[in-house]
Amino acid sequence: MNIPDDLAEALRNARHVAVLTGSGISAESGIPTFREAQTGLWERYDPQQLATPEAFDRDPELVWNWYTWRRELVERAEPSAGHLALVELETLVPDFTLITQNVDGLHGRAGSSRVLELHGNITRTKCSVEGVLVEKYEEDVTPPVCANCGAPLRPDVVWFGEVLPAGVMKDAASAARSCDLFLSVGTSSLVYPAAGLPYEALMHGATVVEVNPDETPLSAEAHYSLRGKAGDCLLALITTAFPS
Ligand code: OAD
Repeated sequence: MNIPDDLAEALRNARHVAVLTGSGISAESGIPTFREAQTGLWERYDPQQLATPEAFDRDPELVWNWYTWRRELVERAEPSAGHLALVELETLVPDFTLITQNVDGLHGRAGSSRVLELHGNITRTKCSVEGVLVEKYEEDVTPPVCANCGAPLRPDVVWFGEVLPAGVMKDAASAARSCDLFLSVGTSSLVYPAAGLPYEALMHGATVVEVNPDETPLSAEAHYSLRGKAGDCLLALITTAFPS
């Protein structure tokens, strides 16, 4: 992969780098993306039946079991070359903000020190009424129930129609506004408010770089589009900007 000299220079000189990742970075860990033809989760399953509060009210057992399947998939997966490249990038720039739409926790497992998880984390469980995180629960009923109030437990993820965790979104937006280089990696750039972050960065004068094998709505606006897999592109970008 050929990295333009001026992009390598922009990364080398950046004081603050912000990165937004989507499910494409975990594709190389064997986790399915959402919208890709044939393999995407939303090609095979209906989000309205599985990823909304109404779906959970209607059939909590179905929703719980679907998330258990995904959680087991995530637990068996290993961080990809892309996750590991971002751990390295964090050590190479003065200020670094990692924002993800992914709920798989793989950035943290790879070793990234702080991750702004916009859509929650599938490995955490919370009470569906009190919203309180629950560490331990009996698995004799599906879904298990809250020991405190008896309400069904649910994954600590953001479903369609729900609001993103306010503090996390605020920190992400502030990083987008203050960074000088913004990387959008492995996301279709279709789901807001996350998809708005690179535009915030553009409006505030940052260099915006997209990493994706395919074109997205962001491609036309980004200063650079690196067409390839997250692992390959990020590695090429880092080794070109910071030759050892
Ligand atoms: P999508 O499935 O919409 O997009 C995945 C993107 O990853 C596509 O643009 C692919 O071209 C790209 N891709 C595939 N393999 C890749 C690779 N090896 N390296 C780099 N890119 C690759 O997934 P997201 O954009 O993450 O929200 O979806 C955003 C949100 O929609 C998700 O967080 C989820 C979903 O509904 C919630 O669940 C709230």
